[in-house]
Amino acid sequence: MKGYINNIIKGNTLSVLKTIDSNLIDIGITSPPYNKQEKHKGWLVKNVQYDSYKDIKTEEEYQEEQIEILNEIFRITKEGGSFFYNHKTRWERGQMFHPIQWLAKTNWTIRQEIIWDRMIAANIRGWRYWQVDERIYWLYKPINKNKIGIELESKHALLTSIWRFPPENGKKNPHPAPFPLTLPSRIITSMLNDTDGIVLDPYCGSGTTLVAASLLNKKYIGIDISEDYIQYAKDRLQNASSEMKIVLEELQKHIVQKTFKQRKQQGAFTGKHKNNSNTEEVLQATVKQLHLL
Ligand SMILES: C[S@@+](CC[C@H](N)C(=O)[O-])C[C@H]1O[C@@H](n2cnc3c(N)ncnc32)[C@H](O)[C@@H]1O
Repeated sequence: MKGYINNIIKGNTLSVLKTIDSNLIDIGITSPPYNKQEKHKGWLVKNVQYDSYKDIKTEEEYQEEQIEILNEIFRITKEGGSFFYNHKTRWERGQMFHPIQWLAKTNWTIRQEIIWDRMIAANIRGWRYWQVDERIYWLYKPINKNKIGIELESKHALLTSIWRFPPENGKKNPHPAPFPLTLPSRIITSMLNDTDGIVLDPYCGSGTTLVAASLLNKKYIGIDISEDYIQYAKDRLQNASSEMKIVLEELQKHIVQKTFKQRKQQGAFTGKHKNNSNTEEVLQATVKQLHLL
């Protein structure tokens, strides 16, 4: 795939994916356009509008396109490879759309639903509790149809299925919807550790995934439709070392004193309560604290 590795390809995601060889990619990470109809203005944060793409489709069209794209990504990913898909639950005239609705129709094995607690979000209206969460779906391409796969090292797994960090600072990054560098850094280091690999972001925007891949010594392929975002991403990659501090801060979280096995052998806490006594103690303490009795 000459010309693709360590490059950003300008074009429509689906068309570009179709030109990529099968079984090439080790991992992928992306946040696609959310089909937000571009009319829901937030009270706190500016409306998301891309410069080269109108985020307006019927929900049916949108989901069908996402399925086709996810299946193309499945084809170009190696067996044993993974794709991390950042999305969220949305509502249109009171009807809820959940990403599982289309993810379950793709060829991928859905390995985990991770909650990303952003702690802040654009829209504050009383139709629902303030939605500050997004989701990250870990999608897995089985080896020989074995859906279980290999275990994560405990230093990564202990980071839990709830990821709490804020969104990217909009003042630093001119893109309307970047994710923070912490997000792809966590994924790349958990999936690839010290091994080399090719990381794909099929909607790479300001290049956050590519910067993380580059700083972690991996290869990358980016795709985006916008000339300006690609130029910004390329400039950012040139100057990537200025963002190393954020990657290092994330790497420091992937350190664990004892593995699951060592904890079990030493009778230390492994995350499972042996009986209900601990739960009962916590309950009693809470009751006491709240003066409920
Ligand atoms: C949510 S943003 C991704 C932001 C990125 N994660 C970052 O950190 O900057 C989605 C991106 O998809 C691009 N895009 C939308 N539709 C596209 C299409 N059909 N083909 C290629 N890129 C597209 C937009 O230009 C935008 O940059």
